[in-house]
Amino acid sequence: MARQMVMVGFLQAQNCTNLPASWRHPDSRTDFMSPDYYQEIGRVLERGKFHLAFFDDRLAMPDRYGDDHAHAVAHGIRCVKMDPIAVLMAMGMATERLGLGATCSTTYYEPFHVARLFATVDHMTKGRAGWNVVTSLNDGEAMNMGRASVTEHDLRYDRADEFMEVVLGLWDAWDDDALILDKASGRFADPAKVRRLDHRGEHFRARGPFTVPRTPQGHPVIIQAGQSGRGRRFAGRWGEVIFATAPTVERGKEGYAALKGEAERAGRDPDAMSICVSLTTVSAATKAEAEDKMALLERLPLEIDALSLLSEGLNFDFATKAMDEQLTTAELAGFSGLLSIRDGVVRSSGKANPTVRDFLRFSNRGRVEGAIVGGPKEVADRLEDLFAANTCDGFVVGATHVPGAYADFVDFVVPELQRRGLYHRDYAGATLRENLGLPRPAIGAWKRATR
Ligand SMILES: Cc1cc2nc3c(=O)[nH]c(=O)nc-3n(C[C@H](O)[C@H](O)[C@H](O)COP(=O)(O)O)c2cc1C
Repeated sequence: MARQMVMVGFLQAQNCTNLPASWRHPDSRTDFMSPDYYQEIGRVLERGKFHLAFFDDRLAMPDRYGDDHAHAVAHGIRCVKMDPIAVLMAMGMATERLGLGATCSTTYYEPFHVARLFATVDHMTKGRAGWNVVTSLNDGEAMNMGRASVTEHDLRYDRADEFMEVVLGLWDAWDDDALILDKASGRFADPAKVRRLDHRGEHFRARGPFTVPRTPQGHPVIIQAGQSGRGRRFAGRWGEVIFATAPTVERGKEGYAALKGEAERAGRDPDAMSICVSLTTVSAATKAEAEDKMALLERLPLEIDALSLLSEGLNFDFATKAMDEQLTTAELAGFSGLLSIRDGVVRSSGKANPTVRDFLRFSNRGRVEGAIVGGPKEVADRLEDLFAANTCDGFVVGATHVPGAYADFVDFVVPELQRRGLYHRDYAGATLRENLGLPRPAIGAWKRATR
């Protein structure tokens, strides 16, 4: 069968979408603390046969700008962040085939805790769980989680490697056939088939045995989005669904080849992963209608949305600079977090030391970033081009508002992609792995991945 696209919805358990102004959109639902809000989104995505609904997360509100949260709260800039796993379960109860992924940080949790959470979700959703492994970004998160500042970048990934070994080791504690459940003999499970882990490493200790039997998928699907050299090495070693960006077709191709190369170097099959490029679509029945929708969306963002999210994402207080003041070389070098934003602004502005205004203009942060605007044909053409050029195996689709932006995608874009044979017409199976075409891992299969 011809290669087909993987489709992921980019969701938040918060008051807005990727677009902070989305809550002000006239068609946005504002009951984001109700289960019904998430369940409606889930039903829309499942109607469109999305493989996965993925919830991002950050363990702080954006309060880096001016070292204060007042602006974020006043303007609703990603200031409500509920626990994504609890929300994920609410969505899972209203859907049957949609995969369900959530983000959990390796920097601030214990492996046993994370292993148990996602193993439980995999059981409760009959094999639809995925874990987005992040190492976290900024000082706000550190200060909420008992630290003074964010740990150094590569060290976060070294720790994350060991975190993965512990989590995967715990997930392997019970053989598939360990449970006996024989009331007559009183044998509940076979003790020879349940093992301690006895992990004693540089960063973690976990004895086991793990307390959740092996899950429907063998283990939940591992999602990752590292973009630096070290991050890609980590993604190549562990990731089964990998999120990436493709600012241009050329850079998308480079990133795709680099990630597949990292998987090969780690001793993995580079085809046993789906690389999904992040994008936003504004779609409608016709191009003209989509352009009208985009015109409305252009009016929603405030400058403070961008300043706040730039400060959060780059771990630097943009309030310390005047609008037309250049960032010094030392300041730019001190940025951490989403460094691709910094590098993109330097490249697009043509300045080694861009001003704050350059960051607003060229990063497009806080606005609808890189939207594909059009009717079914225009949007499908762009997705097909990116897919056919080997920039990706699929897409992680952000929404300008919910649930409307996903409903538009499902009603206008999905049928066109299906008509072209680029996208499945129905789910292939019951579990997320089956739908992604990933094998159910045997116990210990992950150990093939080398450092
Ligand atoms: C589509 C996408 C989703 C992401 N979601 C999160 C998230 O929920 N939480 C988070 O802390 N980082 C998230 N990130 C950031 C990545 O985990 C990663 O830190 C970032 O891409 C920078 O790469 P690096 O860690 O290799 O420097 C996301 C990145 C992308 C592209």
